[in-house]
This record gives sequence, structure tokens and C-alpha cells, in this order.
Amino acid sequence: MERTLAIIKPDAVRRNLAGYIIWRLGQAGFTVTEMRMERLARERAREFYLVHRNKPFYDGLVDFISSGPIVVMAIEKRNAVSDLREFIGATDPADAACGTIRQEIALNIQENSMHASDSPENAVRELAFFFG
Ligand code: CMP
Repeated sequence: MERTLAIIKPDAVRRNLAGYIIWRLGQAGFTVTEMRMERLARERAREFYLVHRNKPFYDGLVDFISSGPIVVMAIEKRNAVSDLREFIGATDPADAACGTIRQEIALNIQENSMHASDSPENAVRELAFFFG
């Protein structure tokens, strides 16, 4: 079993899609072991996305992720990290495969509905960031 971090982003929470996403996760064989709704303070958001601090979209990303409540979840499954990345789809919904969350509900490359850790090392770091 492997653990990873998933976030339902403000665009999806705002459109009342959190319940649907959690149902889809269960159908796809993921187990939610911890879950909390919170609103990220700007400073916490800056810290969470620190690896992107030199990217042109960094400030917009921080504004967006702290713009409303998010749902943070610890997810468990065999191959959870890669399977969850596949489940949510490519960063840009225009490139996301059929049947993925982002293809179905994401609005654009920034408001892309979900986050998932991109490596086992980042999963450990991101789980610690939210769940200690
Ligand atoms: P996420 O998987 O949370 O990781 C970093 C986030 O930055 C990404 O999802 C998008 O929300 C955002 N992002 C990545 N590339 C771009 C881009 N070119 N323009 C705007 N936002 C982006």
C-alpha cells in the first residue's frame, strides 16, 4: 500500500463537486484515510507551491488556491501516487485523457479541480505539510 496527497481545489468545491470527486475516488479503488476542508492562508499556499516560485504563474496560482475552501485528503492504494495522477489527468484539461477528472470538470490549466503529489518523495512531504 502507498499513500499520497489529493486536494480538491477551490473551483471544484465552489461548484459543489467535492462529493462527486470523493465518490469517483472510491469507485476507482482509492481509500480516503484522512480528510479535512480548510481555507489555505496565502503564506501557507506560497509555502506549499514553493517549487513553482520562479514560474510566471506562481502568484496567480497562490491567489487561486487560497481563494476559497479546499478539501485535503490522504489517499491509500497500491501504486497510489501514479494511479492518482492518472485518475486526475494532465495539468491542462485540454490535454487530459477521456474519463479523467480534469477532462470532465476542470475549467482551465490553473483552475484544474484537483492536485495530486507527483512523486513518492513529494507525497511524503505533502502529507506531512497537511497532516503532520
Ligand atoms: P497542480 O497539480 O496543483 O501543480 C501546480 C499547479 O500550477 C497546477 O496544478 C496548475 O494549477 C498550475 N499551473 C501549472 N501550469 C500552469 C500554467 N502554465 N498556467 C497557470 N497555472 C499553471
